[in-house]
Amino acid sequence: MASIPDIFDTMAYGPAPEAAGPAQAWLDGHARRFGHYIGGRWTEPGSDTFETLNPATGKPIARLTQASAAEVDRAVAAGRAAQPEWWALGGHARARYLYAIARQVQKHGRMFAVLESLDNGKPIRESRDIDVPLVARHFLYHAGWAQLMDRELPGRVPVGVIGQIIPWNFPLLMLAWKIAPAIAMGNTVVLKPAEFTSLTALRFAELCEEIGLPAGVVNIVTGDGRAGEALVAHPDVDKIAFTGSTEVGRLIRTATAGSGKKLSLELGGKSPFIVFPDADLDSVVEGVVDAIWFNQGQVCCAGSRILVQEGVADRLVAKLKARMETLRVGEPLDKAVDMGAIIAPVQLEKIAELVRRGEEEGATRWQPSWSCPRDGWFYPPTLFTEVAPAATIAQVEIFGPVVVLMSFRTPAEAVELANNTRYGLAASLWSENINLALDIAPQLQAGTVWINCTNVFDAASGFGGYRESGFGREGGREGLREYVRWEADRPAESGRRSGKESVIPSVARDLAGRTRTSVKKVPRYARDDDTLSGRPPALPAIDRTPKLYIGGKQARPDSGYSLPVLDAAGRRIGEVGHGNRKDIRNAVEAAHKAAGWSRTTAHNRAQVLYYLAENLAARAEDFARRLAQLSGDTDGAEREVELAVRRTFTYAAWADKYDGLVHHTPFRNVTLAMPEAIGVVGVVCPDGWPLLGFLSTVLPLVALGNTVVAVPAGPLPLAATDLYQVLDTSDVPGGVVNIVTGLRDELAPVLAAHDDLDGLWYWGTREGSAEIERLAAGNMKRTWVDYGLGRDWGDVRRGEGEEFLEQATQVKNIWVPYGE
Ligand code: NAI
Repeated sequence: MASIPDIFDTMAYGPAPEAAGPAQAWLDGHARRFGHYIGGRWTEPGSDTFETLNPATGKPIARLTQASAAEVDRAVAAGRAAQPEWWALGGHARARYLYAIARQVQKHGRMFAVLESLDNGKPIRESRDIDVPLVARHFLYHAGWAQLMDRELPGRVPVGVIGQIIPWNFPLLMLAWKIAPAIAMGNTVVLKPAEFTSLTALRFAELCEEIGLPAGVVNIVTGDGRAGEALVAHPDVDKIAFTGSTEVGRLIRTATAGSGKKLSLELGGKSPFIVFPDADLDSVVEGVVDAIWFNQGQVCCAGSRILVQEGVADRLVAKLKARMETLRVGEPLDKAVDMGAIIAPVQLEKIAELVRRGEEEGATRWQPSWSCPRDGWFYPPTLFTEVAPAATIAQVEIFGPVVVLMSFRTPAEAVELANNTRYGLAASLWSENINLALDIAPQLQAGTVWINCTNVFDAASGFGGYRESGFGREGGREGLREYVRWEADRPAESGRRSGKESVIPSVARDLAGRTRTSVKKVPRYARDDDTLSGRPPALPAIDRTPKLYIGGKQARPDSGYSLPVLDAAGRRIGEVGHGNRKDIRNAVEAAHKAAGWSRTTAHNRAQVLYYLAENLAARAEDFARRLAQLSGDTDGAEREVELAVRRTFTYAAWADKYDGLVHHTPFRNVTLAMPEAIGVVGVVCPDGWPLLGFLSTVLPLVALGNTVVAVPAGPLPLAATDLYQVLDTSDVPGGVVNIVTGLRDELAPVLAAHDDLDGLWYWGTREGSAEIERLAAGNMKRTWVDYGLGRDWGDVRRGEGEEFLEQATQVKNIWVPYGE
């Protein structure tokens, strides 16, 4: 044993264990066996059970029950039964419950922290100082949104019963991120924790009992992916919120396609950590510790790719190695430990395998000289240098304490390397030059950008991904959108439901009984078997065959074929190009080339749209004549043109008014929540309103900086193709709006499966919607489909507004610290 003078000499750490007694006593009190928490009651531990293990020792802690489909069903039914009353309680009552949860979490904070560290292997310093306080903060923050919902979210109502599936890396924190906004907005939930880490969720269920939360508002079922699958497949779940791997996220996207379930996915990442030459390198080193060794690197937004300007790379590497020598890996309950254990042998093996791959592919591995404990599942902090940008370890999410380092020369190269990933969850950048930092931040394809800080989270800031990191936000005002829907989405004829059904029927459940709100008689394409009447048309045929409109130019369709267009009486009035896969590819390419549109000023975009309205109005008579020809309804045609001009004004107006927010996160920083364009978005336009439907769906996207590939609705192309000249004369840059005419059922799936398209809006049939959602899983593009419900585009409450703007943007949160 070391003497006191020895200790003064070596400054070695002694053990500083956190007492596990109360947590162990709680486990013993439950005989270390747990059932589920359904409808305010505990089920008996079932016959199908599994062990949850302590990653620091590999020893069992307790036995949990694998939920069967029948148990999941009971939990959903409990949520359904409780939801109307929970919503009817009103925002203030819900706020009181959320506040009570927050307080109870604080009062039992240490117990939660110890239990979390036992079950997950994370250091007590993190569970005690980060996870648990953030959990309380989340409930407190969302108590406020419950209180303010009526005033701040007018017209929005709960989604219904929410199925929530969470991972093992932040068990209680992910539970809070999911449950707090959901119940604040009047939904009820069925949550399935990860099979490795369910204990704090079960303790949380007890807490709900303790504060008297109405039965059925929160239901917890345990089990592995099979229980998750049952929840995803359940027909009475209105929304799935998932955090976890991109692979499972993709499965869920496919499984829910066409079901009408709302979906948010928070998936993996390979986040860049960019170091400019003027950065404070000592802060950067501590930043790297927080970026990749926090929670053993098992963090979806871990800064796992260091990109450093080559002039300072060697200095940074030397400093990093020195710091890595001092990191302490060991018993998670030791208060002086920096890194705990890896969740499970399977994860440890995955990390080791990827590290082997890195070495095989020629990168240089560096690990500190000390070794990790041998009991339990530990892995040392690891740094790779000499890494090629295309190397496996530079592309694949390792989800462990392994960071790769690459260098760049110029800021432009840094951005290119940073964005060279299919993910887009987060990024951090380090520079003492705020001008440079704020120039780079918007160029990074990531939902969160941290300037001179990393891995900071708060309930007031939205968190979520771009690209294959998923969609939807958690936290902030933007996160609430996931748990509400527009009241108007409720079909008028279905009215209020009673009994055990939700007051607010879900879109999913409406699908069965709902018919399209078709508002106009529409003309259609001629088909091969259509026989033309033979008599000459009353109006002289207009001999025009507009081509496609790609990159600001008319382009011949690749197929070399045209499609005839019939008027309302079935007469052939013109032809349009028969676009195909290749035309879509060209249009997407042209739209990407026009990406500069998102960087033009909002003022400029507004001006272009006003000009578009002006030119449209100047040609109002032509358009009215064309519409009358298509529909046979002269009055309706004139009205449609007038509405189209107004709608164009609406989006010209919004272009410079859809502002971001500054979130009040409780650090010395401002957090800028910026709505950004999604990128290149496909639009399969609605039937029924040849001109208005086109503009109502294309313009919100264009107003906010997206570029568009539009497929005019089947029968309508002439009204859209007549717009070519208007677009040309209105200073809309080439490639911002691309129009591919053709058969919608042929072109929509091509768009949905296109890997370079960032989003897709689809107005069409229910079956078509399902197919779009399924195909979109390929690159996890964002979709907005209407399940064949249709809408009245002439109604300003339904045909325009915030809903469209929200769908046309994704929110990036940029954290900017202040002070010295
Ligand atoms: P996972 O994605 O399989 O598990 C996450 C949750 O989904 C768990 O609750 C699990 O039971 C559930 N689940 C699994 N299969 C399901 C299915 N078919 N339907 C519905 N729910 C299902 O993640 P896993 O296997 O724990 O970890 C594998 C890899 O995923 C990790 O190595 C890491 O790379 C990544 N990961 C990423 C996370 C993130 O936050 N981005 C979190 C956890 C893991």
